[in-house]
Amino acid sequence: MLKLNEIETRYGKIVALRNISMEVHEGEIVALLGMNGAGKSTTLKTISGLIRPKAGTVEFMGRSIESVPPEEIVRQGLIHVPEGRKIFPGLTVRENLVIGATSRKIAMSTVNQEIEEVLEVFPDLTPLLDRLGWSLSGGQQQMCAVGRGLMARPKLLMLDEPSLGLAPVIVQNMFQAIRKINQKGTTVLLVEQNARQSLAISHRGYVLEAGSIVASDSAPSLLDGIQNAYLGAAK
Ligand SMILES: Nc1ncnc2c1ncn2[C@@H]1O[C@H](COP(=O)(O)OP(=O)(O)OP(=O)(O)O)[C@@H](O)[C@H]1O
Ligand SMILES: [Mg+2]
Repeated sequence: MLKLNEIETRYGKIVALRNISMEVHEGEIVALLGMNGAGKSTTLKTISGLIRPKAGTVEFMGRSIESVPPEEIVRQGLIHVPEGRKIFPGLTVRENLVIGATSRKIAMSTVNQEIEEVLEVFPDLTPLLDRLGWSLSGGQQQMCAVGRGLMARPKLLMLDEPSLGLAPVIVQNMFQAIRKINQKGTTVLLVEQNARQSLAISHRGYVLEAGSIVASDSAPSLLDGIQNAYLGAAK
């Protein structure tokens, strides 16, 4: 469904990504893991067209998208929920969700029906529909941001650190919601620093280090690797 081939992305002279090749198949949750500054967000921005690669190709549903405008990439069903819960603070939860659907021309009755579907994934948003964005907790804002992404009816949903800064119990809920989104038929590319919990819901994963992929394997094998690294460090 998504295929990156030997991508290089720069900020001026700084090489942020080098020789990145990766794939996401339909139906999967794929984790993209790495420490601060590894290049995770840059990878998502390169895929969604916010930054252009200096070299390499990005294919989505069999078409090259590395020079397609970002809004057209959205229309093709590739949705990027950026880092940092960027919802509109002066709009209500309902209005934030409606905005997610505006890339498609659909009737308000359909929008309302789709809001109901988002609420099946995030029931905690139900009593908050008329609350303004700024008045929500971090976890509630994050649910709203992911919910808004769902309103675009993604074929592939890319989430940038959805668990960042959330209390442990809320993190649990967020990962369960992502699993549910996937079970309902949406493919997910999940960027996380939280390796253990994201691999627990993922099929496969890639590990980025200083702009390069240093590991790529099934989620259970990567989890084993992490376990062994900790055991090694404890000796
Ligand atoms: N706008 C920018 N201009 C210059 N350098 C940048 C810019 N954005 C990111 N970088 C650099 O590119 C590298 C990768 O950054 P990126 O934001 O992709 O990392 P990340 O893995 O998402 O990190 P984090 O976990 O902190 O979000 C870092 O060295 C960062 O300093
Ligand atoms: Mg980032």
